[in-house]
Amino acid sequence: MDSRLPGLYKQDLDQRLSSVAERADLSEDAVRALEGKSFDAEDADTVSENVIGTIEFPLGIATNFRIDGQDRFVPMAIEESSVVAAAANAAKWARQTGGFYTSVSGPVMIAQIQTVDVADSHAAALRIQRRAEELIELANEQDPILVEHGGGCEDIQTRVVDTPRGEMVITHLVVDVRDAMGGNAVNTMAEALAPEIESVTGGDVLLRILSNLADRRLARASCSIPPAELESDEIDLSGTEIRDRIVDAWAFAESDPYRAATHNKGIMNGIDAVATATYNDWRAIEAGAHAYAAADGYGPLTNYAVDGEGNLACTIELPIQAGTVGGATQLQPVAKAAMELLDVDSADEFAGVLAAVGLAQNLGGLRALVSEGIQSGHMNLHAKNIAVQAGSPPDLVDEIAARMVATDEIRQDRAEELVEELGE
Ligand code: MEV
Repeated sequence: MDSRLPGLYKQDLDQRLSSVAERADLSEDAVRALEGKSFDAEDADTVSENVIGTIEFPLGIATNFRIDGQDRFVPMAIEESSVVAAAANAAKWARQTGGFYTSVSGPVMIAQIQTVDVADSHAAALRIQRRAEELIELANEQDPILVEHGGGCEDIQTRVVDTPRGEMVITHLVVDVRDAMGGNAVNTMAEALAPEIESVTGGDVLLRILSNLADRRLARASCSIPPAELESDEIDLSGTEIRDRIVDAWAFAESDPYRAATHNKGIMNGIDAVATATYNDWRAIEAGAHAYAAADGYGPLTNYAVDGEGNLACTIELPIQAGTVGGATQLQPVAKAAMELLDVDSADEFAGVLAAVGLAQNLGGLRALVSEGIQSGHMNLHAKNIAVQAGSPPDLVDEIAARMVATDEIRQDRAEELVEELGE
């Protein structure tokens, strides 16, 4: 599979879908799901509550990705313009040195059990530790299938946390959730252990819930960009100048949380778009990412430097809580098709892909910010929207938008004039 499809953006919608489907050898079910409205309010009614309808997102394909030696199309569901294009551009630059390389720490989640009103917190924590083996066994009895697949509760840890309401004993269940996001598995285990923890501590158990600071489930990705890749005819800057400006932009984020928040938002543009396309819980990934970014004073999740060969060395590390089994993916035909497109075999592989997409998204955004700025890309799409609103026939939209951009007259009245002039 070759993930390059130059000129995909110039094709019409039907052509685009067939190009992607053919190249990715998509199943008929997936193509049918992508073609039409395959998920209506009645289907949605089984997923959430008080459903009155559904809402659509544009689903785009970021081309050019090569991750750990394998080419992949990346499906992205997002309403913001320029995101898909920026990811695909950065993926193209990375190809020159083999693409993205990833590693993951394993699909290990943490569930927390909060115990209050404990007479002697430290002694109670020790008593929990002494019963760890028994507690692990009890946790694993809740999910024999997970254990059969090589996962399960691996460890019990205790912390005594000082809070405004006094000391609390916090028990962590460390659970290998294999290919699931794992929320249900670990929450069930935490609930099952609660009576035992109460009897061991003599306190009252309150919360029994996973932690989204999934710092045992880290994904990392890296790529190396030769400066020449960063050049463009439209920008009067050399590749090394752009490279150094990107490192300066990263240094700004490293030193200023106001900037780091936006820098990380750019990363999450890519990760959330893939999580949305695959019906994964992007709120969990978001929470984990920002909590991890704040672990040592809020900072950027990526890192940029110039390596010994003068290339831009780019890395990312963040928790990724996403699964390939369970969850709602199977309930939504387009999300199923998106998973088929991604072609990942495990949650670990998926986490690596998400990290690579986050890195590409950040790099693409920074490259635009340090050179032409991001508004020109946005304005091109905005001009297309104005052309459509002015009643342009589909085959004239690009031409009308291009003319408005060229003369810097991106306005409804100008679009209407052009519709009349060119539509004759
Ligand atoms: C816009 O959605 C994302 C950016 O603001 C990210 C960034 O500033 O790095 C372009």
